[in-house]
Amino acid sequence: MNFRDPLGSARDGESVDGSPEGGAEREVGHLPVMADEVLETLAPHPDSLQIDATLGGAGHAERILEACAPDGRLLGLDADGAAIARGRRRLARFGDRAVLRQTNFHELERVAPKAGFGAVDGLFMDLGLSSYQLGDVERGFGFRAGGRLDMRFDTGRGRPAADLLATMAAAELTALFRRYGEEPFAGRISRAIVETRRATPIETAEQLAALVVRSVPAPRARRIHPATRVFQALRIAVNDELGALEAGLAASLVLLRPGGRLVVLSYHSLEDRIVKRFIATEQRGCVCPPEVPVCVCGRLPRLRSLGKSRTPSEAEIQSNPRSRSARLRGAERVAA
Ligand SMILES: C[S@@+](CC[C@H](N)C(=O)[O-])C[C@H]1O[C@@H](n2cnc3c(N)ncnc32)[C@H](O)[C@@H]1O
Repeated sequence: MNFRDPLGSARDGESVDGSPEGGAEREVGHLPVMADEVLETLAPHPDSLQIDATLGGAGHAERILEACAPDGRLLGLDADGAAIARGRRRLARFGDRAVLRQTNFHELERVAPKAGFGAVDGLFMDLGLSSYQLGDVERGFGFRAGGRLDMRFDTGRGRPAADLLATMAAAELTALFRRYGEEPFAGRISRAIVETRRATPIETAEQLAALVVRSVPAPRARRIHPATRVFQALRIAVNDELGALEAGLAASLVLLRPGGRLVVLSYHSLEDRIVKRFIATEQRGCVCPPEVPVCVCGRLPRLRSLGKSRTPSEAEIQSNPRSRSARLRGAERVAA
């Protein structure tokens, strides 16, 4: 599994946000990853209708709106109200060509038609969290965040990570760290959590990161911070990220017009596997078992893959190290 720096996977000597000097990223905000490749794959034609399901810092959204001028429109979603507020400022010059909603893309199929985006030419998803979220020490995404260990994209819904750590049984925590983090020391870490919380609640990211470091053997060569997998697993669980991804992908089949394009940027193998399988299944159509000689399911292909996955150029990785685990996949809706 690849791990992305914005998860707080600071390596030794690096700041928590993955930038070598610390804080630099916060000043420039979130750099859109593989923006040229996204635009090339999405190919937004003038006057088209587009959805950016993960608005974040609105960097991709801005490029998409520029590309579909003069009359193309974009629906931008984000579960995080702060991202929507930032997006409103950044996209103000596009007037009513940009329609923004604070929504989890789990709800895409219901929300998009209501906003006038029931049949669209493009759907883009840039998964995970933004540099703004990572840089906000109150939200608990980074290892050294001093605020409550929250990790919710939408701070108005669901249970913060600190709640999960306070209430889940050791066996459940172990399963969670294994499933969403592929953490080899899941058992040890969970036992340490349960033991520690008897005396002191684990409420900050800093506390959790220190606990993980104490619980696992010191690595000989450290590629990522020892707490990276645990942080990732918690964040995925808190936001039901994989469930939302499945729902968002399924919505693309309903919302994309024939010829419309789905483009997804993922940052670790759990996400990418879901996207890859989804495209492969929908490209094949028929789901009959191989031993059935003639198709009886009658399912037709609904997507055409737009080729192999793509990764960022060396130059982009140099200038934006957070892009390094990105993988882009695209597919086109075909008429069923
Ligand atoms: C990597 S950032 C997007 C960055 C953006 N493309 C840009 O150019 O700045 C991912 C964003 O998606 C949001 N997000 C993640 N999962 C979501 C979901 N299921 N529903 C809605 N928003 C989600 C996060 O809150 C975050 O702001």
